[in-house]
Amino acid sequence: APPTPLVIAIDGPSGSGKSSVSRRVAARLGLAYLDTGAMYRAATWWCLESGVPLVDGPAVAAAVAAMPLDMGVDPAHPTVSVGGVDLAEAIRRTEISAAVSSVATNLAVRAALGRLQRAAIDAEAEPGSFSGGRGVVAEGRDITTVVAPDATVRVLLTADEHSRLSRRARDVHGSDSASAMRATRDQVVRRDADDSTVVQFRVAADGVTTVDSSALDLEQTVQAVLDIVERVSGRT
Ligand code: DC
Repeated sequence: APPTPLVIAIDGPSGSGKSSVSRRVAARLGLAYLDTGAMYRAATWWCLESGVPLVDGPAVAAAVAAMPLDMGVDPAHPTVSVGGVDLAEAIRRTEISAAVSSVATNLAVRAALGRLQRAAIDAEAEPGSFSGGRGVVAEGRDITTVVAPDATVRVLLTADEHSRLSRRARDVHGSDSASAMRATRDQVVRRDADDSTVVQFRVAADGVTTVDSSALDLEQTVQAVLDIVERVSGRT
């Protein structure tokens, strides 16, 4: 008989190491990988590209509902494209990072993207999917609570503020010098504060296991998540 699909939901703030950890866990377990933050970033790119003013909530929601989004869920090579345009680089630009909260706090946008995320997760239960029915690691801010509260494994990945800023500074500026951390600080702290107004990802919800990565390197954090998967589902 085919195995029961494994759904692993991982939430956390920016700089918690969510994406790297989620990708590795998915690769290790032969699962698909869904980066839901990339979907909010693609939606922001699409609105800017289409000339939709981000302050116009209903227009943003209408644009996102019509967005021809395609997510590639291979953890070795995740992709995000809209209308056939590959957005790997465009969605990491600072103008997208600076604007994405205004799109992600639009509740109609959240409902539309949440439906797409749910469908992508459910699709990985099917034998013809990327994972062949083995399942998916989905990461974001509201996966453990809203999108997949029924996930087999639910993890909140946290880290203290210094570790998060240092990680982001190294990602974005290639260094965690004092000036790189200062440059990152405004973005990360403000964005998390803005995002927190509509989605709660600072405290673990009932049934969600917290992993604090502050004192762990990437491999140790991956192992901590795999230990939880093993404990909860008997699988690794
Ligand atoms: O994880 P990230 O930095 O790529 O996320 C981009 C933005 O999208 C961030 O401002 C938070 C938001 N987001 C969200 O509101 N809900 C999710 N499930 C994922 C991301």
